Amino acid sequence: MAQSILITGASSEIGRGIALELASGGASIALHCNQNLQAITELQPLLTARGCASHVMRYDLTHPDQAQSMIDEVIGVFGHLDVLINVVGPFHYHDITEMTPDEWQEAIALNLHTCFNVTYHAQPYLCESRGHIVNFAFAGVENIKAWPLSAAYCAAKAGIAILTKTWAAALAPKGVRVNAICPGLVEEGAVTEAERKRMAEQIPLGRPVRPQEIAATVKWLVTESPASMIGSLIAVSGAWEY
Ligand SMILES: NC(=O)c1ccc[n+]([C@@H]2O[C@H](COP(=O)([O-])OP(=O)(O)OC[C@H]3O[C@@H](n4cnc5c(N)ncnc54)[C@H](OP(=O)(O)O)[C@@H]3O)[C@@H](O)[C@H]2O)c1
Repeated sequence: MAQSILITGASSEIGRGIALELASGGASIALHCNQNLQAITELQPLLTARGCASHVMRYDLTHPDQAQSMIDEVIGVFGHLDVLINVVGPFHYHDITEMTPDEWQEAIALNLHTCFNVTYHAQPYLCESRGHIVNFAFAGVENIKAWPLSAAYCAAKAGIAILTKTWAAALAPKGVRVNAICPGLVEEGAVTEAERKRMAEQIPLGRPVRPQEIAATVKWLVTESPASMIGSLIAVSGAWEY
């Protein structure tokens, strides 16, 4: 049976790269976005050209009922789910001393609740298929340290790391493998030469991570990695840590 894959946040550059990388071998890919329907609609012909069926969906995943509707839609269209890739996680840059409770809650909802909401509703189908869940944190997430300008984002991503390990342990006996990718600084969009140089100076490798490198790691994880690779936080960062 061909693989059925759901990518949340497929409208992001990393999500797009993952879709293109996984679009082979007769896979079917459900592409989720929140606002940017154009980004995932434009992706569809590229997937079709690679022999991949796709389906586009727009949901605000901070709401559990919308996460449920999205999973229902994927099952309605593809009939099963083998791989869930929780890419959603917009960076939130905000000084902790100026942040309001509403801003805090919004950042945590976007970066932590979205992942829980989707996984909660997807679990039964992934247990049926003995599938994969791939979450997204960041390189260095396991370090306890101060992040005064991005505390909510980092606290939420630390939560993702804990959820990843917890789901990994809970679902491994049911044949579901849960891991997280921890990107470093990723070169996205129209980065100027000056910006690229500034990023590169912070990275031991000497250049930012390319979205295709993240995508290739996801592909390896869900196709070739050893069956015992479960509950891992996999850095793809050129040795940079946040
Ligand atoms: N880029 C980096 O350097 C970097 C570094 C470390 C970790 N990461 C992690 O890697 C992942 C991808 O990063 P990225 O920079 O490519 O992401 P991004 O460009 O910030 O994209 C965020 C995604 O979240 C979606 N989204 C926003 N609000 C949402 C909501 N309420 N409900 C559902 N979806 C919502 C957006 O959809 P719409 O655009 O359609 O609204 C978009 O697809 C994230 O988890 C990020 O934290 C990235």
